[in-house]
Amino acid sequence: MAALGVNIDHIATIRQARGGREPDPVHAAVLAELAGAHGITAHLREDRRHIQDRDVYILAQTVSTHLNLEMAPTAEMVKIALDVRPYMVTIVPEKREEKTTEGGYPVREKERDLANTIVTLRENHILISLFVNPDINEIRSCAKVGATHVELHTGTYANAANDQAAMDELATLKGAAMAAYKLGLKINAGHGLNYLNVTPVAYIDNMEELNIGHSIISRATMVGMNAAVKDMVSLI
Ligand code: PXP
Repeated sequence: MAALGVNIDHIATIRQARGGREPDPVHAAVLAELAGAHGITAHLREDRRHIQDRDVYILAQTVSTHLNLEMAPTAEMVKIALDVRPYMVTIVPEKREEKTTEGGYPVREKERDLANTIVTLRENHILISLFVNPDINEIRSCAKVGATHVELHTGTYANAANDQAAMDELATLKGAAMAAYKLGLKINAGHGLNYLNVTPVAYIDNMEELNIGHSIISRATMVGMNAAVKDMVSLI
């Protein structure tokens, strides 16, 4: 069975709307874990639009499952990761003007830069996942630069215009997962997954963990974190 990593960024988005103390993503992480989440994910963006440094430092001490820190591979973020020591770092591309992470990290294009960052993090016993488009060449580069995991970008699948387009993209995701598995990489996936589209992705062979944020936090605002997480765990 695939595990569920709950991305709590949007609890921080609500907090930042007023710049106060509530709601606290640390509390959300506790509730998600109590409801059965297998991991907690938080993205510390360069512009600090939602998660703050303080959140990451407290989460590192309070998360009892595992903490997956999403970040761009900048010197500032690597320094924070080495200080915080999350279980896993997921490297994502970042553009200031985007609403959310729009595409996968261009691993092939940036192999040399990434390899050094990955060595540093691996030497400090942090697992490394690279958020990539489901493209075989990108997957090969992930293995080459020493990643332990890939996170397959499911945005194209989630935003498919019709059922046929979704099925086609699902086949692409399955092919990418198979390639990653053969190269010895562990497989995560995420982006745009929700209560209606998650199940076929959870069924992909060797899927380790699905990272899901927006749909869970949206539902949690209506029915509470406990029900929102439990419903997603049972679908997966
Ligand atoms: N995985 C990665 C690497 C992401 O950047 C995001 C969005 O922050 C997610 C998963 C979660 O996406 P969503 O909020 O659409 O579930």
